[in-house]
Amino acid sequence: MTLLPGLLDTEAIRKDFPILDRQVHDGKKLVYLDNAATSQKPRQVLDALSEYYERYNANVHRGVHVLAEEATALYEGARDKVAEFINAPSRNEVIFTKNASESLNLVANMLGWADEPYRVDSDTEIVITEMEHHSNIVPWQLLAQRTGAKLKWFGLTDDGRLDLSNIDEVINEKTKIVSFVLVSNILGTQNPVEAIVRRAQEVGALVCIDASQAAPHMPLDVQALQADFVAFTGHKMCGPTGIGVLWGRQELLEDLPPFLGGGEMIETVSMHSSTYAPAPHKFEAGTPPVAQAVGLGAAIDYLNSIGMDKILAHEHALTEYAVKRLLEVPDLRIIGPTTAEERGAAISFTLGDIHPHDVGQVLDEQGIAVRVGHHCARPVCLRYGIPATTRASFYLYSTPAEIDALVDGLEHVRNFFG
Ligand code: ALA
Repeated sequence: MTLLPGLLDTEAIRKDFPILDRQVHDGKKLVYLDNAATSQKPRQVLDALSEYYERYNANVHRGVHVLAEEATALYEGARDKVAEFINAPSRNEVIFTKNASESLNLVANMLGWADEPYRVDSDTEIVITEMEHHSNIVPWQLLAQRTGAKLKWFGLTDDGRLDLSNIDEVINEKTKIVSFVLVSNILGTQNPVEAIVRRAQEVGALVCIDASQAAPHMPLDVQALQADFVAFTGHKMCGPTGIGVLWGRQELLEDLPPFLGGGEMIETVSMHSSTYAPAPHKFEAGTPPVAQAVGLGAAIDYLNSIGMDKILAHEHALTEYAVKRLLEVPDLRIIGPTTAEERGAAISFTLGDIHPHDVGQVLDEQGIAVRVGHHCARPVCLRYGIPATTRASFYLYSTPAEIDALVDGLEHVRNFFG
């Protein structure tokens, strides 16, 4: 058994995740290395979801009966937990959405319908990076097409990091918003927030951070990041699907217009016009994902009971080990940083000229679950001249033995394809 400094007690942790005991393909032990796509859920979250439906289910903010009040308290309690988890100055800065994509689309649409000084038009520029997930590319392309704004981006270095050599030119007086990923889902790269935020602030641009691959894995402090918006999703951090978060600075949320209209986001409605409720409700039209928010609250309790610092140290140790072991595999090329520094626990690679879909299929036959493809970050594959990658990604319950199983599995893939 490989023992690395900083590892969590995975034997105890894995007992909380019933699915990790599963066997697949006629008795093969499941090795789940697709955590960047979605995490597994601990018993504590599954119990919170069934308890919610068994005891409290009602619509929120609408009823005077007991269940409606209890469901509202649970939903708003989940908002408090999120606010504390990300060190938000106010709970009113936490907007529940259905996923990180919706959070990012919400920011793009708030700005798209805004008046000065936030207005995006043909005299302004939007800045993203070449390593974004499609959910942080397409909303900005749509906004640029609609408004005539120019879309610019930072390119990538050969070792999978952002090329910021032209930062003063890319972010300039015309820039309205800079939106970038904190940790890349395909490269694993952790980006230098401070340098980008400093330059954006110099020119008065807003900053939006996609923290989908960061919030599950490291302490997240929105005040320390100094961004204006931070987006992430619940299902990658032990929570259920169907719940995302957008954090935004309070004065911005007060000034910016809503995107979706409907029930509960209003103050008054007449047949001629409406006025809106204060944030966060202004941005939560319709029945919200109540059970999912409660599940996310339970996931946050679970992660806190382990400690985000400890989860980060665990994944750092695993990533260091995985990079070392993977580089021992002949013909394997890591697409992204090959050190464990400034990097998350998702590692993409190619294996000679074996197509990643074939790699993934032969690994799957051995019980090893990885993701293959362009990982919704196709420009990264184009940049590195590859059609796709195989990606292994770890979480708090991942073990060195699973990395060994992956390396053995890749040997099998190589033998299989001669
Ligand atoms: N964004 C998720 C991934 O990277 C789905 O796999």
